[in-house]
Amino acid sequence: MRAAAPILLLALAAGPAAAQSGFSEVERGHYLVDAADCMPCHTAPGGKPWAGGRPIETPFGNLVSPNITPDRDTGIGAWSDHDFLDAVQKGVGRGGEHLYPAMPYTYYTKVSRQDVLAIRAYLNTIEPVHNEVKSNQLPFPFDIRASMLAWNEMFFNEGEYHPDTSKSAEWNRGAYLVEGLGHCGGCHTNKNALGGDEDSKALQGNVLQGWFAPNITNDERTGIGRWSWTRWCNTCRPATIPGRPRPGRWPRWCSIRRRG
Ligand code: HEC
Ligand code: HEC
Repeated sequence: MRAAAPILLLALAAGPAAAQSGFSEVERGHYLVDAADCMPCHTAPGGKPWAGGRPIETPFGNLVSPNITPDRDTGIGAWSDHDFLDAVQKGVGRGGEHLYPAMPYTYYTKVSRQDVLAIRAYLNTIEPVHNEVKSNQLPFPFDIRASMLAWNEMFFNEGEYHPDTSKSAEWNRGAYLVEGLGHCGGCHTNKNALGGDEDSKALQGNVLQGWFAPNITNDERTGIGRWSWTRWCNTCRPATIPGRPRPGRWPRWCSIRRRG
């Protein structure tokens, strides 16, 4: 799988390229869930993969990630593709309830329908696990899901990624990954008091739950503007460096060290 990643990366941006890549939809879905880091959030420490139950800390309290295995009763086995698209791209659950943005739908909304369906195709192939999870464990008043209607109104721009035709295909592929699947801003962009992204400070660094996600803009002094290609690769693909541990908590895009 890992060796195939660069080739698949090329297939990410556009449908026709994907069709030509020779990878099945399921294989592509597998690659995409890795890029989006879906599994670490949807797996409890020591728990079965994808069966949920992991507490997700937010400044407003804890949410618990749901079971997204194909189990029909406690997972998403009985969901239609339409239900799945709504959850990932719109932040709307199967019963029409609003999901909290701890599930990064605010970014995944940029992911193409074709890619979301490939993710679904892959998830259909994993082992169904019976595990009932109560996601919403936020304290009052944050436990009221309807409040997300107003939140979405303020901070959620729904819609798939639209390429900027004045830029190269490579640039657009990168932007698609950063803004969509990679949800880099989820950690690297400072949040306002209500937990929305401060767009004017996009990717300029953010403190979260005792961690610091640094400035990853092109700024030569505070960002990564002067980084060499090797340094970038070593940071973003640590799994490929022998002897270097794979990050557990943060996405594999990032190095892992606790600051302070
Ligand atoms: C940062 C953690 C995180 C990541 C990354 C993440 N999720 Fe989630 N996801 C959650 C949480 C938390 C919820 C529950 C939100 C709620 O109850 O409002 C959720 C909800 C969902 C739901 C709705 C399930 C239900 O029973 O209502 C689906 C489907 C889902 N996620 C799929 C995915 C997929 C596919 C990916 C990767 C593309 C992904 N998630 C990545 C945390 C995450
Ligand atoms: C779930 C949170 C999270 C997400 C999502 C995330 N990062 Fe990070 N990232 C971090 C944290 C935390 C660190 C700091 C780790 C450390 O101090 O070693 C970091 C570090 C980095 C660094 C090293 C910067 C430096 O100055 O040392 C780079 C580069 C980076 N991330 C790029 C990305 C990119 C590109 C994406 C999206 C594809 C991304 N990150 C998504 C949390 C995240």
